[in-house]
Amino acid sequence: MTQEKKRILSGMRPTGRLHLGNYYGALYNWLRLQEQYECYFFVADWHALTTEYENPGPLGEYIQEMVIDWLAAGLDPERSTLFVQSGIPEHPELYLIFGMFTPVSWLERNPTYKDQIQELAHKELATYGFLGYPVLQAADILMYKAHGVPVGVDQVPHVEMTREIARRFNHLYGPLFPEPEVLLTEVPKLTGTDGRKMSKSYDNCIYLSDPPEVVARKVRGMVTDTQRPYRRDPGEPDRCLTFPFLRLNLPPARIEEIARACRAAELGCVECKKELAEALVANLAPVYERRQYYAGLPELVREILVAGNARARQTARRTLREVRQALGFQRDYQLWE
Ligand code: TRP
Repeated sequence: MTQEKKRILSGMRPTGRLHLGNYYGALYNWLRLQEQYECYFFVADWHALTTEYENPGPLGEYIQEMVIDWLAAGLDPERSTLFVQSGIPEHPELYLIFGMFTPVSWLERNPTYKDQIQELAHKELATYGFLGYPVLQAADILMYKAHGVPVGVDQVPHVEMTREIARRFNHLYGPLFPEPEVLLTEVPKLTGTDGRKMSKSYDNCIYLSDPPEVVARKVRGMVTDTQRPYRRDPGEPDRCLTFPFLRLNLPPARIEEIARACRAAELGCVECKKELAEALVANLAPVYERRQYYAGLPELVREILVAGNARARQTARRTLREVRQALGFQRDYQLWE
């Protein structure tokens, strides 16, 4: 008997073109997981709406750009199910049901919720939808009975709450949902080219969609060890923001040699960044090529999502049938479909 593969699920809010922070922080990890597990990866556009409700217009384009980057990075629609959340109406149905028994106190004390309210103080987020964000996330995860959820540390409270919601459901209506495990993603400490957090709003990103010469130019412009004003001064790799990028793009032996040469003032920042630019451009070349390919075929991207949504929806329908049955909402008379 073949053992069933463990199921992995994760989502990203559509933010448009992805940068290297997104790539090394999340996508890279998804690529590895796809080799071993049955994976569901989706665009969390309803989650985006919790903060972007005033201007949802660009979300469609953001979805398209982000999915092109997923495919460019190497997510394989033959192996992984790639879908868009808003195409699966079972998500809001499950979210609604979970909302019936999720105590408001769980939501109010969620640390990520509190952080975000502060961070996004310029937006009016005292909304019902934003408070309920983790309940929607629980619906995403439990819908597919995922065993593992790869996320960064900021998302851990949401997955923990998902476990509590699963437990509460199982207690109230009988066992149905497995409790998902967090697969914590080690996120390398990448900063933007100016030393601040890599973020679209700071205009300091290197994008997967940047052509090689743009990547090289951005790398050349990166801030290095600011306490090393002259080439003859010894540098300190731990203070240099190019270093995490070097680690991801050069072999360990070479990195050690660079660190030594930097500290001994034998290697200057200009040369060092030139080497980084070359390595990064070479490593990103296949991604960039695939990106050009998919960007030229929007119809193909659409078909991939249509097929992914169809597959995801089969599972979602099955889960909802079980949920309605558990609640006694699957009546003798058929009221829908
Ligand atoms: N909240 C996640 C984020 O901002 C996105 C997300 C939505 C998600 N639903 C999910 C992640 C389910 C993992 C599983 O990154």
